Amino acid sequence: MGVAVLSGAQRLVIGGGKRLSGELEVQGAKNSILPLLSGTVLCRGESVLHNCPHLTDADAACRILNCLGCKCKREQNSISINSEQLVNTDVPLELMREMRSSIVFLGAILGRAGHCRLSFPGGCELGPRPIDLHILALRKMGVDIKEEHGYLDCNAPKGIRGAHISLSIPSVGATENIILAAVTAKGNTEINNAAREPEIVDLAAFLNKCGAKITGAGTGTIIIEGVPKLGGAQHSVIPDRIVAATYLCCAAITRGELLLKNADFNHISAVIPAFEQMGCSIYTYGKDRIYINASKNLRAPHKIITSVHPGFPTDAQPMIMALASTLKGTTVFVETIFDNRFRHAQELSRLGAKISVDNRVAVVEGVERLTGADLEATDLRGGAALVTAALFAEGTSTITGISHIDRGYDDLVGNLRKIGADIENK
Ligand code: EPZ
Repeated sequence: MGVAVLSGAQRLVIGGGKRLSGELEVQGAKNSILPLLSGTVLCRGESVLHNCPHLTDADAACRILNCLGCKCKREQNSISINSEQLVNTDVPLELMREMRSSIVFLGAILGRAGHCRLSFPGGCELGPRPIDLHILALRKMGVDIKEEHGYLDCNAPKGIRGAHISLSIPSVGATENIILAAVTAKGNTEINNAAREPEIVDLAAFLNKCGAKITGAGTGTIIIEGVPKLGGAQHSVIPDRIVAATYLCCAAITRGELLLKNADFNHISAVIPAFEQMGCSIYTYGKDRIYINASKNLRAPHKIITSVHPGFPTDAQPMIMALASTLKGTTVFVETIFDNRFRHAQELSRLGAKISVDNRVAVVEGVERLTGADLEATDLRGGAALVTAALFAEGTSTITGISHIDRGYDDLVGNLRKIGADIENK
């Protein structure tokens, strides 16, 4: 099962200055499909996930499932997973290394088999990615976890028991791992200060279809009543709110217009005011459509502070920063989630952007012109920010390191070309 990946190509070549206009369908959410695929480990039977984007991260998750003995088969945008037989509970190092969010398999394997061995997920471009909250919670649920030689050896000899867990940070991954471990635990689990992201709601919806008893997903308090086992189910992955925000930024930076279909306005309600402050006209109509028109004079949105959901999503910050670098006025970005999430600023400056970074604060002074340059993507959303800015920059830009982009965008080049971008992978 492979995706048409950009990384097969060496680089993207973008001719800037073209006004984008048209309509696009938003892909399924990367940050939903990964925990959903992990959740199928708990299901004794076959599940089918629809609206699954072609992403290298989704491929990596399917390789882990196949390694565990869960048979994965992709047909276009649907993936069927038969988890009748689990033959292995150890995730090999090379598969863990492929994608740090593989840690979300821990809760599901423990929930299914009661033991698991996997390597500590590496840090990533965004800074250290600790899993202390995951470990603390699982220990409270009766899991004995040994951390040595870079591996986690996890055992729940007496099975997993429900617990009352308060998270010091509403961690998305920790919330997901606790839910996955709790659905077939003995007794009830209550999570306080749980993450409220839409992807958590999507995971709970799928697991409940499989027979789980989860209430409160999307709020700060989630209750999971343990059930003996789960069956399989069919489920359609929610739209990717960060990909939606990315395409809105691409339309806005070229002063164009765009109709997004299969987009959930509520999932990006914290990003919409930023576009309105810039002077874009943006609105939703029908169940799942968002329209943006950016043809007027745009101005800086002044301040963007990232926060946990329902606040401004950290994952949209890089693309909004690319857009802000072309708007009249100054924008202050405060990144409250990750230590090192301004790496794209350096590369944006090569195009002529005026950005000064001090720890978790970045000040962007808008400029009238950006000019094409040779750029390198250092992470997934940083790469998307470079593409966004290159669409505006006069002349030609090239972007290498595009395997980062393949992790989260399904056919980014094809979609941008559909709405008038001069972009190709060479
Ligand atoms: C998820 O990562 C997303 N990834 C990230 O998207 C997203 O940026 C992040 O949530 C925040 O919304 C997936 O869903 C696969 P966290 P996750 O645990 O779960 C600290 C993208 O671009 N923390 O909510 O790893 C952590 O260091 C990616 O699609 C601990 O200290 O995020 C961070 O500062 C990037 N200890 C903060 O919490 C822990 O045990 C939020 O992390 C866990 C987390």
